[in-house]
Amino acid sequence: MATSKLIFILIQGIVLLSVLDFANAQGLKVGFYAKSCPKAEAIVKKVIAQTMAVAPSLAGPLLRMHFHDCFVRGCEGSVLLNSSTNQAEKDAPPNLSLRGYGVIDRVKSALEKACPGVVSCSDIVAIVARDVVVADMGGHWDVETGRRDGNVSSMTDALLNLPSPRSNITILKSSFAQKGLSAKDLVVLSGSHTIGTSHCSSFNNRLYNFTGNGDTDPTLDNNYIARLKMKCKPNDQTTLAEMDPGSFKTFDVSYYTLVAKRRGLFQSDAALLDDSETNTYVTNHATPKGKASFLKDFGVSMVKMGRIGVLTGNAGEIRRVCSKIN
Ligand code: HEM
Repeated sequence: MATSKLIFILIQGIVLLSVLDFANAQGLKVGFYAKSCPKAEAIVKKVIAQTMAVAPSLAGPLLRMHFHDCFVRGCEGSVLLNSSTNQAEKDAPPNLSLRGYGVIDRVKSALEKACPGVVSCSDIVAIVARDVVVADMGGHWDVETGRRDGNVSSMTDALLNLPSPRSNITILKSSFAQKGLSAKDLVVLSGSHTIGTSHCSSFNNRLYNFTGNGDTDPTLDNNYIARLKMKCKPNDQTTLAEMDPGSFKTFDVSYYTLVAKRRGLFQSDAALLDDSETNTYVTNHATPKGKASFLKDFGVSMVKMGRIGVLTGNAGEIRRVCSKIN
């Protein structure tokens, strides 16, 4: 009896150790800066509140920045790096519409003043993404921190890893699966398109030349096509269209209402209707009743996305200036 009890305790110990080991391997935790820079998150929050008061349209690009950081070499701040030869991630076409680098720099300067060399640029991007969602009346989630910054940034990596708005559901699911994200994460995170704007050029093919014959995308609602055509003329590269007209500054479920009505702006939004799991999610969240569940799911999926390819422990560096390696 005594032996079997001992074995039981030993097994329990081994299980506990392996769970702890997994947590350490991940290396991220909520409140990573609690001792080294206790005011870190409060400082980010303050700069973002100031920014949102004067430039609320930066919420969309700042949320998108975390996605574009994580999908290319992991969440390690490489999207922020400059290249003297214009070959960095930020020079890749999908990133040319990213904005808000100056905001990240302002947050970083404030943090460097308070705790020099402590808070990574990649963590700043992750916390900022949460704070802009909160500013747009979305939900709050605890952001895991402890990422360190990478020192490689390549335009080719960005082109290879960022999904195109013309992707179908098979490509989208496989692009997310390659990053360890599920079909549910795909449909939940696509809900980000409830805020922000898009250049007409990201979807004009659906209005004017879908198959090369001057036709429209048959999966896009006809009345919506007519409305979008008033906003976006053929070959328009500069005009911005609200992705969720009427509530593009509010983090709500109206993205799903639109997608369910065949009014998703991109083919990648419409594609969510082509898979039974993502279709069910869209349908179930297409009314205001779905908001609480969406916001909860969104926090969970953002934490998951924030773990992609992170550098922790002694890997990488804490950049002093987010656009330059030390
Ligand atoms: C599922 C695959 C996705 C595709 C193909 C996609 C594609 C795009 C495109 C083409 C734009 C418009 C860019 C422009 O023309 O200015 C855009 C905007 C945006 N995306 Fe996505 N996206 C995807 C997923 C995500 C995810 C996972 C997030 C965040 C977690 C996100 C957040 C945003 C936001 C907030 C905007 C608005 C940006 C602004 O206001 O400037 N997207 N996306």
